[in-house]
Amino acid sequence: MRSIALTNQKGGVAKTTTTVNLGAGLAHMGKRVLLVDLDPQGNLSSWLGLDIHNLERSMYNVFLEEVYFEEILTKTCIENMTLAPANVALAGVERILAHEKGRDLILRKRMLPVVDNYDYILLDCPPSLGLITINALTFVREIFIPVETKVLALNGLITLVNTVQVVKERLNHNLEVTGIIACRFDGRTNLSNEVYNQIKERFKEKVFHSVIRENIRLAECPISGKPITLYAPDSPGAIDYTNLAEEVVQQEKKT
Ligand SMILES: Nc1ncnc2c1ncn2[C@@H]1O[C@H](COP(=O)(O)OP(=O)(O)OP(=O)(O)O)[C@@H](O)[C@H]1O
Ligand SMILES: [Mg+2]
Repeated sequence: MRSIALTNQKGGVAKTTTTVNLGAGLAHMGKRVLLVDLDPQGNLSSWLGLDIHNLERSMYNVFLEEVYFEEILTKTCIENMTLAPANVALAGVERILAHEKGRDLILRKRMLPVVDNYDYILLDCPPSLGLITINALTFVREIFIPVETKVLALNGLITLVNTVQVVKERLNHNLEVTGIIACRFDGRTNLSNEVYNQIKERFKEKVFHSVIRENIRLAECPISGKPITLYAPDSPGAIDYTNLAEEVVQQEKKT
């Protein structure tokens, strides 16, 4: 089993887009995939067709230890891909648990019983480094960082890597950044190329060769309720995420 947090405290860098479409790519390759929505915006859950305003049970109840993790799981349009949904209620968790002892360890504790049911567990983190993201980083072994190659991103990445280091030392010795994903890449612009070269120079072989190009089909995709491989199978977005999934599976040989 590989557990991977898709994390970047910067908003709108394609964390959710990557969670859905990398997850689908892995599921198409026969992997058993679990997607966990950790964002109170619930974008992952609504993308996969849930009515997030009327969830009976969600990650909120899991954090408050009101239900077992298994009880909130729902099927998706892809057979071997399962979803743990979230909605705006999750925003309350930070405040409710603010003074709770062991609050960083809740997700790890709650998810432990199910981990062996999956080959890949992908966690879609919110755009912050608050309690929910720290819980994700305490549970997983790996972090993938999606980077929007349309904006100079290095400073934010250094903040993130420092946070990862603190969590690694204090809470989770196994934690490692194992992939940087260049997203929204537009090869016609100097900026995209420059950002790509910068992250390559800083993070070297951690940067995936597969680059996710800017693609209108990906932007349209969430309202379709499906991943890009079903919505627009011949689009550049489908090709790029399929290549990324293959590269991620290739990593298994190294780990
Ligand atoms: N390769 C791409 N081509 C075109 N549009 C994209 C691409 N990747 C992501 N987008 C669009 O960029 C926006 C942000 O993407 P997404 O919601 O996945 O980012 P996020 O990091 O999850 O955001 P947040 O921090 O709010 O959770 C969305 O409108 C999405 O459709
Ligand atoms: Mg998101």
